[in-house]
Amino acid sequence: MMKVAFYDAKPYDQEFFLKTAADTGISYVFHHFRLSAANTATVGGCRAICVFVNDQIDGACLEGLAREGVEIIALRCAGFNQVDLKAAAALGIRIVRVPAYSAHAVAEHAVALLLTLNRKIHRAYNRVREHNFSLNGLVGFDLHGRTAGIVGTGKIGRITAEILRGFGMDVLAYDLYPDDKWAAANRITYCPLAELFSRSDVISLHTPLTPETHHLINREALASMKDGFYLINTSRGKLIDTAALIESLKSKKPGGIALDVYEIEEGVFFEDLSHDVLQDDDLARLVSFPNVLVTSHQGFLTTDALTEIARVTTENLIAFESGSALLEGTEVKMAH
Ligand code: NAI
Repeated sequence: MMKVAFYDAKPYDQEFFLKTAADTGISYVFHHFRLSAANTATVGGCRAICVFVNDQIDGACLEGLAREGVEIIALRCAGFNQVDLKAAAALGIRIVRVPAYSAHAVAEHAVALLLTLNRKIHRAYNRVREHNFSLNGLVGFDLHGRTAGIVGTGKIGRITAEILRGFGMDVLAYDLYPDDKWAAANRITYCPLAELFSRSDVISLHTPLTPETHHLINREALASMKDGFYLINTSRGKLIDTAALIESLKSKKPGGIALDVYEIEEGVFFEDLSHDVLQDDDLARLVSFPNVLVTSHQGFLTTDALTEIARVTTENLIAFESGSALLEGTEVKMAH
């Protein structure tokens, strides 16, 4: 029986991981707090641990984990920006992730945010419940014929682009590695980032967080966008300079901003703080704008994605325990 310490566990994680791990010889020990350097002693002798996006796997945490005898960390997410890969490599700790569980789940959420924000569904829903059937302030625009800009045409960006093409939008795209064949087949046009920013009515972010993409949306980028632009971020919060975004919103330049991710999610996203006082003034300001829609990093939250995350993670842990090869493409190594 292999015991795996599981951090930042939520009821939906437990449901899907318990179902998947039944009869596999893996037993998950669920912790409801996040892992950091301060609490590595909670590993409790497990050689393997499972973490999510807001566990802080920095150098100090990894040293603590190595002292506790941890040999493998399974990330139950695609992004791995929360892990110090250099420190992990130096300590001989292996890192696995779930590179693709359901790109559709995230792309569909990005489009759901856009449709909600543009057609003011969130406001209409609340109004009608109070028997306010007025339409004032609910005017949107047709997506058909407008221009969308997709930043990052990996798995999620492509699906988002294809859905928006289905609405009859013109789609511009930007990626470090353009795929001209895909673009031609879908009548999508790659262009420089500056051109994408200045020509798009709707911009959707789909790059990972890297030193190059950190604050990709800064004051200059925001200033270069069309008046009334819509910006959707389902990727990583740190792609956007929040202070610059708030400044732009106060100047009334954006039409709408939809965020499934935020610069400082730790301790806020995934938690019920409805009886508490929100300490993050920027987040409090953001949610107060009528044209800002925030969801709490729920892009991945479909039964399909949760099933796949649990399957890939559990299969990798079984492979590790039995000394066989990890699933192809799931091990994260430092770029050389
Ligand atoms: P992917 O690896 O398939 O695609 C990423 C694309 O970004 C690649 O085409 C890559 O060439 C491009 N890229 C990398 N650096 C770039 C740069 N500096 N400039 C332009 N393009 C660049 O990743 P996938 O699966 O499409 O996921 C994208 C991101 O979505 C993930 O990194 C993750 O941060 C986020 N995500 C969010 C979720 C949510 O629940 N909201 C769930 C899953 C992923």
